[in-house]
Amino acid sequence: MTRTSAGPGRIAGDGSVAAHAPAKVNVHLAVGPLRADGFHELTTVYLAVSLLDTVTVRPGEGLSLTVAGEGAADGAVPTDARNLVWRAALLLAAHAGVPADAAMHVDKTIPAAAGLAGGSADAAAALVALDALWGTRATRGDLSELAAELGSDVPFSLHGGVALGTGRGELLSPVLARRRTDWVLGIAGEGLSTPTVYRELDRLREEGRVPAESAAGTPDAVLTALRSGPADALAAELANDLQAPAVGLRPELRRGLRAVTDAGALAGLVSGSGPTVAGLVADEDAAAQVAATLSGDGVFRAVRAVHGPVPGARLVG
Ligand code: C5P
Repeated sequence: MTRTSAGPGRIAGDGSVAAHAPAKVNVHLAVGPLRADGFHELTTVYLAVSLLDTVTVRPGEGLSLTVAGEGAADGAVPTDARNLVWRAALLLAAHAGVPADAAMHVDKTIPAAAGLAGGSADAAAALVALDALWGTRATRGDLSELAAELGSDVPFSLHGGVALGTGRGELLSPVLARRRTDWVLGIAGEGLSTPTVYRELDRLREEGRVPAESAAGTPDAVLTALRSGPADALAAELANDLQAPAVGLRPELRRGLRAVTDAGALAGLVSGSGPTVAGLVADEDAAAQVAATLSGDGVFRAVRAVHGPVPGARLVG
């Protein structure tokens, strides 16, 4: 059994423990029917990319949370029980039968409500860091189960790499696809609410404005391209059923999608429920070039060159 506990070596002199976790892009996101529990049945291929949030925890009395970096100043990231990090702490403490005592801090580089699973990354990193701080010796399996209670994407944030997600996204099968892919992320000024985007998809389907069944189809071709193909083979297979509703709610996304291909990306798609646009590029040099072009043209609030796959939540140091 793989245990995640740090051992004393990972606890810094001041008693703190840090873990980081990556953002994700869904290279394939097929949304099935709405289930009775309010979630949609998904088939998705997750790719973890090199944009990391870091969660640092230290001994404390009760729980406290501070946030710095992306979204901290404008209040986009709550610092109380609404934050998934806080809920992760309560859940792990209850699971392990230990008091929920920790001073927690999140350093964000992943923007909030961007379709990049930033909140899920924070929750996954918190589980790993607190497991080490509290010596709860949870297995990866235990943490995965807690992660699924916290949110559909949290198990993947823990897992990292490339994975096929089914169920509501929380049931993972690892995919052996170590080939590096390079991306440029175009980040919008204002976030989009995930439930709103799913609801908009239901509405578009009801009105017959998009096919009632998933337009993205099966993930087979994208999995083959991820394993072995050149980047342009993958570019031809990118698909996201949430793109149409995200564009419907935020028409300027059309301009963003056009901008990434105009700047030289092989293909662009909305990441998850958006509004981040992910442009797949040929290699690292192309990523730098496309990012420089996009940074200059002002379509996006911020532009980041990233690559994947990268590992999931892990202790730092
Ligand atoms: O699981 P998570 O908390 O990230 O989901 C946020 C919301 O996104 C859900 O409450 C639901 O409205 C929507 N969702 C969905 N189907 C999924 C995942 C999320 O409808 N498979």
